[in-house]
Amino acid sequence: MAETEGAELESTVAVKEELKQEVKEDGMAAEDTVDHEEGSIDDGNEGEENGQEEGGEKLSKRELKRRANMPKYLEYRKKKRADERQRKKDRKAALKAAGQGETMVKAPRRKMAESDCKLRLVVDMAFDDLMVERDRRRCISQLTYCYSANRKADQPTQYHIVGFGGPTRTIYDSNDTYVNWDVHLHREPLEEVVAKEDIVYLTAESDNVLTELDDSKAYIIGGLVDHNSHKGVCFAKAQEKGWAHARLPIDEFVKMQSRKVLTVNHVFEIMVVYWATKDWEKAFFTVIPQRKGAMKKEEEEAADEQASGMVEEVEQEESTVKTEEISA
Ligand SMILES: C[S@@+](CC[C@H](N)C(=O)[O-])C[C@H]1O[C@@H](n2cnc3c(N)ncnc32)[C@H](O)[C@@H]1O
Repeated sequence: MAETEGAELESTVAVKEELKQEVKEDGMAAEDTVDHEEGSIDDGNEGEENGQEEGGEKLSKRELKRRANMPKYLEYRKKKRADERQRKKDRKAALKAAGQGETMVKAPRRKMAESDCKLRLVVDMAFDDLMVERDRRRCISQLTYCYSANRKADQPTQYHIVGFGGPTRTIYDSNDTYVNWDVHLHREPLEEVVAKEDIVYLTAESDNVLTELDDSKAYIIGGLVDHNSHKGVCFAKAQEKGWAHARLPIDEFVKMQSRKVLTVNHVFEIMVVYWATKDWEKAFFTVIPQRKGAMKKEEEEAADEQASGMVEEVEQEESTVKTEEISA
């Protein structure tokens, strides 16, 4: 191998290592990224002919671009790490405020009946027919996460599960774990449990943005794990029934690299943390997993400016992974 080619490959590998580390730290599928990236080393002859001399070294166009982008990238990475540390701190503080902080002595759990919070969070299980068996089971585990978040809250919300009489209920009833749950279970459909004027159906497709919560209302979450194969089904239901609907203010606070349709438990937990903190940003960053690429709005532009070239390559890789992980 010619000396210049050897030097180029070495420096390319060093940059890949940086990116690999970055991706690893973000909990992404580092292997996938690196495999893909390594593929590009093999393909890296493009631009070779147009290369230039630098310090007696002949560099390809690609390598020159990498070196030019390196200071921006390092700056971006430094900021990203600082932001991550801050996010962790905020998350800890928000969990503490929601009564979910780490404490030496376990705080006594408050039952829904003893809670000052009268806000109703309702999961509508009317979509059993749209789920395969595996997704029904996943839906039950999401209900469990909702339950756990509510139980840990200082002032639990009023957790209802309605339309809960189909095959998913059969799976639920077959497990003794749920027998003593502090939750309101209803086989009846939503309209028989909640007055029409109290319903606010949560759906990502709504143009109405939720700004604050009203504890005289019931906020409804579609009990559906469908990997968005039934896009807009809850929105269609709310429109057909003439129910009020709203979306979470994600666009207003968060730049997401992946879809804004969240899982049942994430929506539920966001509502619980928001109720405790009255801070949407805190609620989103406490609950939305980092792999979804959530970034605070004000960080977005700065990062965009800094993250040209190589960084964009990494983000594209990341968003591929994230899209596949949604609704898991
Ligand atoms: C996995 S989603 C169901 C997606 C389903 N394909 C649909 O279109 O309704 C589960 C539920 O979470 C709630 N949800 C998810 N993302 C939301 C958002 N950005 N704003 C408001 N509600 C959301 C909705 O109630 C939704 O029915």
